[in-house]
Amino acid sequence: MLFFAAQPQQALLADTNEDLIEMYRTMQRNWQGVFRVASQYPCTEQYYYQLRDTQIPRTHSNWRAARFIYLNRFCFNGLYRTNCQGEFNVPYARGTTRQLQSRDEFEQFSHDIQNVQFVCQDFRDTLQQVRRGDFVYIDPPYAVENKRIFKQYGATTFGRQDLQELSDILHDIDRCGARFVVSYAYNKDSLEILRGWCRKSLMVQRTVAGITNDRKVARELMITNVELC
Ligand SMILES: C[S@@+](CC[C@H](N)C(=O)[O-])C[C@H]1O[C@@H](n2cnc3c(N)ncnc32)[C@H](O)[C@@H]1O
Repeated sequence: MLFFAAQPQQALLADTNEDLIEMYRTMQRNWQGVFRVASQYPCTEQYYYQLRDTQIPRTHSNWRAARFIYLNRFCFNGLYRTNCQGEFNVPYARGTTRQLQSRDEFEQFSHDIQNVQFVCQDFRDTLQQVRRGDFVYIDPPYAVENKRIFKQYGATTFGRQDLQELSDILHDIDRCGARFVVSYAYNKDSLEILRGWCRKSLMVQRTVAGITNDRKVARELMITNVELC
């Protein structure tokens, strides 16, 4: 989200979600092919579940990207969550009148990501590549003992130990002369582990899409080594 708002001329976007990174790469090189497939899918609950239960081979990248975009568009609250087998299991978002993104939106999206390098890797590997002058935005999943959130983003998740390691890496980033911003849940762990930096607490909408009435406003913590005015 920040990337699309800031529109930097050059960027590296990293995530451990292989399907997400694969979708971005496919949209980068062939948005027309993805749109051609996605626009043929019926926007119905029945078709949503049919597509959700269909596994598409890795070689069919347009179909896989179209499926990813369609499921993200029509699933409950735009969540990404998988079961232990790594299968996407978010239910259909009932009561919405959403449509698939338009052809123009597909084209714009592809245009906006042309200069991006997409990498599928752990944040520790990505943050090792930070150099003087870089700006780094880190938006980890919340490490909470709540089962629903714990299972979000797939079988592997982000725990307290990861938050601790991230905190150590922030010192390396600062020392090398780069700037960073981290957004995280405002809770006991983050206040304790991410202490010592400029911080601001903000109220944000936690979900990224879906039924407006079901969006929850939550308190988030923003940590940075950039001086906040
Ligand atoms: C809160 S979401 C980021 C949302 C994104 N900033 C946006 O605005 O759309 C957290 C992301 O962290 C990824 N993730 C989880 N564990 C990770 C890890 N160890 N290394 C890198 N990414 C990870 C998840 O796959 C998920 O996409």
